[in-house]
Amino acid sequence: MREGQALASIADLQRQAEAAIAAAHDLAELERLRVEWLGKKGRISQLLRQTGSLPPELRPAFGQRANAAREAVEAALARRRQALAAQEEARRLEAERIDVTLPGRPVWRGRRHPLRRVEMEIIEIFRGLGFTVAEGPEVERDYYNFEALNIPPDHPARDMHDTFYLAGDILLRTHTSPVQVRYMEAKAPRLPVRIIAPGRVYRRDDDATHSPMFHQVEGLLVDRGIGFAHLKGTLAEFARRMFGPDTRYRFRPSYFPFTEPSAEMDVSCPLCGGRGCRTCGGTGWIEILGSGLVHPAVLRAGGYDPEQVSGFAFGMGVERIAMIKYDIDDLRLFFQNDLRFLAQFR
Ligand code: DAH
Repeated sequence: MREGQALASIADLQRQAEAAIAAAHDLAELERLRVEWLGKKGRISQLLRQTGSLPPELRPAFGQRANAAREAVEAALARRRQALAAQEEARRLEAERIDVTLPGRPVWRGRRHPLRRVEMEIIEIFRGLGFTVAEGPEVERDYYNFEALNIPPDHPARDMHDTFYLAGDILLRTHTSPVQVRYMEAKAPRLPVRIIAPGRVYRRDDDATHSPMFHQVEGLLVDRGIGFAHLKGTLAEFARRMFGPDTRYRFRPSYFPFTEPSAEMDVSCPLCGGRGCRTCGGTGWIEILGSGLVHPAVLRAGGYDPEQVSGFAFGMGVERIAMIKYDIDDLRLFFQNDLRFLAQFR
């Protein structure tokens, strides 16, 4: 009878423990239950310790039953632990849910400004023809901007180059031509001189086709025996590569103080193919640059002897080339930073 009672009370304890474990809400509570039942002073552990104080004949059965209870409670703890862990993971997955069907947020990809693209294209074409890139300061001395280019103080050509004077004879350069003299000064008397000089220039001008700041690319080639044929061949090749292989061209006599003779170059309108349209004013031709054979006074200012060497030079506006290439009728679009305009150039 005593044995029966003792065994029944073990079964009872085991049931209590199992019920409490099955009802545990979270892992922390489960851990408290483990200590309560199986810890050093746990209720099942105490049971096992009691075995020694029982009459010998009761010990084996009691001991076995108590061990079985401990194993059962251990198993119950493990089962509940697994179930709670699974619940917790499911809850976390639900909370951290990512809706992969949401459209992604667009990433704005920058792209080059159309003026920079055209400038790079011009540079690449002349690089392919053996020219290297040279640069000069935008804040320039009157001497390099005018005098060294054969434009003395009261020369009428200065009228077209009104600019921003900073102090005394310091001004914002009105064209990239001063780089010609700066480069020759540094290079003389070595030959050949074969450069293009891209950069910003400034003038007191502001309307649909003129901006107070704009971009030019200058070109200069000096060597022995350079003549107009070299100028013509070089610029014809440039025009074909820039505007397409069917582009026709013509040179019209012109005047620049720093070249003699001087010429302006027209290309057949790339938009109408020369038939005549709004862009070319119905003429079929579009002016793209000024050019000529370098004036002896400019060669001398650069440190070269005009009796020994000769050269050609040219200058073009990047905005103008871009407006022709992309059929843009208002220059100001380049400077307003309107993405609807800029995003069209890829
Ligand atoms: N510097 C001139 C201008 O800004 C353009 C030019 C014309 C440059 C003839 C040249 C040249 O090198 O030979 O209007």
